[in-house]
Amino acid sequence: MVFEYAPSIESTTILKLANRYQHFIGGKMVAPAGGKYFDSLNPATGEVVAQFAQGSKKDVDKAVQAAQNAYDKIWKKMPAAERGKYLFRIARIIQERSRELAVAETIDNGKPIRETRDVDVPLVASHFFYHAGWADKLQYAGLGDKYSSYGVVGQIIPWNFPLLMLSWKIAPALATGNTVVLKPAETTPLTAMLFAEICQQAELPAGVVNIITGDGETGKELVNHPGIAKIAFTGSTEVGRIIAQSIGNTDKALSLELGGKGANIIFEDAPIDEAVEGIINGIFFNQGHVCCAGSRLLVQENVAGEVIEKLKKRMSLIRLGNPLDKNTDLGAINNAPQLAKIKELTQAGIDEGAEFWQAEVNLPTTGLWCPPTLFTGVWQSHRIAREEIFGPVLSTITFRTPEEAIEKANNTPYGLSAGVWSDKGSRTLWAASKLKAGVIWSNTFNKFDPTSPFGGYKESGWGREGGRHGLLPYLKSSVKG
Ligand code: NAI
Ligand code: MG
Repeated sequence: MVFEYAPSIESTTILKLANRYQHFIGGKMVAPAGGKYFDSLNPATGEVVAQFAQGSKKDVDKAVQAAQNAYDKIWKKMPAAERGKYLFRIARIIQERSRELAVAETIDNGKPIRETRDVDVPLVASHFFYHAGWADKLQYAGLGDKYSSYGVVGQIIPWNFPLLMLSWKIAPALATGNTVVLKPAETTPLTAMLFAEICQQAELPAGVVNIITGDGETGKELVNHPGIAKIAFTGSTEVGRIIAQSIGNTDKALSLELGGKGANIIFEDAPIDEAVEGIINGIFFNQGHVCCAGSRLLVQENVAGEVIEKLKKRMSLIRLGNPLDKNTDLGAINNAPQLAKIKELTQAGIDEGAEFWQAEVNLPTTGLWCPPTLFTGVWQSHRIAREEIFGPVLSTITFRTPEEAIEKANNTPYGLSAGVWSDKGSRTLWAASKLKAGVIWSNTFNKFDPTSPFGGYKESGWGREGGRHGLLPYLKSSVKG
């Protein structure tokens, strides 16, 4: 029997969109010095969501000055418990406006409302709540009482989790007493501008948070501004490298959260049905636009047949389509260059001889889409086993012994995440001790919590975000006396 789902479309009336959004500088909405604006699109329809200010050197300069002013005159001097109160207030307003933020994120990013409503926005609020609690307890962060803030922090974030990455950046920076200039990604600036409104609503002192919209050029201006004490970046390894090089001969501090090629390892004693759900969540959550996605499936050879058969059945049940439909599992691909990259790598997988399979789905006629895709018979040398695809495409590799699984899992320039599926705690702990990955999930995947540090090994980045460890990149050790 086939179940048909009646559409259940989330209403968008809660979201009052402006035609144009300005920069947020010194507590005010400020028109761009160059007078230029760019469009952000809804990737599910191709329609323009709104226009956003294109940030130039002058805008960045103004924002850095506003942030420095707020740091010197207000934020640095404020008792820590007072700083915490602002973070609590922001967290509560995010909860109050959660439905509006979820709708805005879905429209601007293309991700399903089920995820923005149940994952992104609740995590954003919990990030602010968690860091609000830290503001007056920083002496327990690991540096004793010998710490100080940096000053003005420049933060650059990607499009895959726009508001969530904003919270990962802004919450710890403010809790530790820094002020910020943040640049959202050019395809997803909307929720950052709603966050600017939330800062006003919370009566956050002017200049503590500044938001400049624009593209990579705007990002470069921020990175190279002499008034910035520290840069925090999440995005591609390529841009992370450029940033590391360009500030190499300055005394700016840097934290980077970059790409990944996470291994999801299924041992023969794994609970297979649960593992299949975990594989689905590992690669199809957020259209696979996830740096810690379980994009390499490593399956023990003697259970591979059963796993793949069940996986194909489960993939066929994934509902792709209108991200505002509450039934939708897989939304739109965020932007056209990303879809082109996914297609190019998929073709490379076929050309190099891996076995290609796609779930049968009717793709909508407008917008950017990619069906759930599975490759089996993948070799370590194939590009689809080595390069980050950042889409709903899974590469399957088999192994015979646990040692071989670890060797294959670690054979990557990245090291952000891994998953281990096994019935035996001893095997899971053994595997976790050998895997070179910042986050290792046991019998689950893609679970996030603000109390848990997140970050990578090797080309996946420097520094941690979340938990006590995530405070340290925002604190300078200042030995007194
Ligand atoms: P990207 O790294 O170019 O963009 C991320 C952010 O950096 C955006 O805000 C962008 O405007 C800014 N930026 C770009 N060039 C810059 C520069 N020279 N200086 C300062 N800021 C700059 O990522 P893109 O092009 O959107 O995606 C390309 C690939 O990167 C994806 O296919 C994926 O593999 C990976 N990626 C990884 C992410 C992660 O969470 N680790 C997030 C986004 C992309
Ligand atoms: Mg957009």
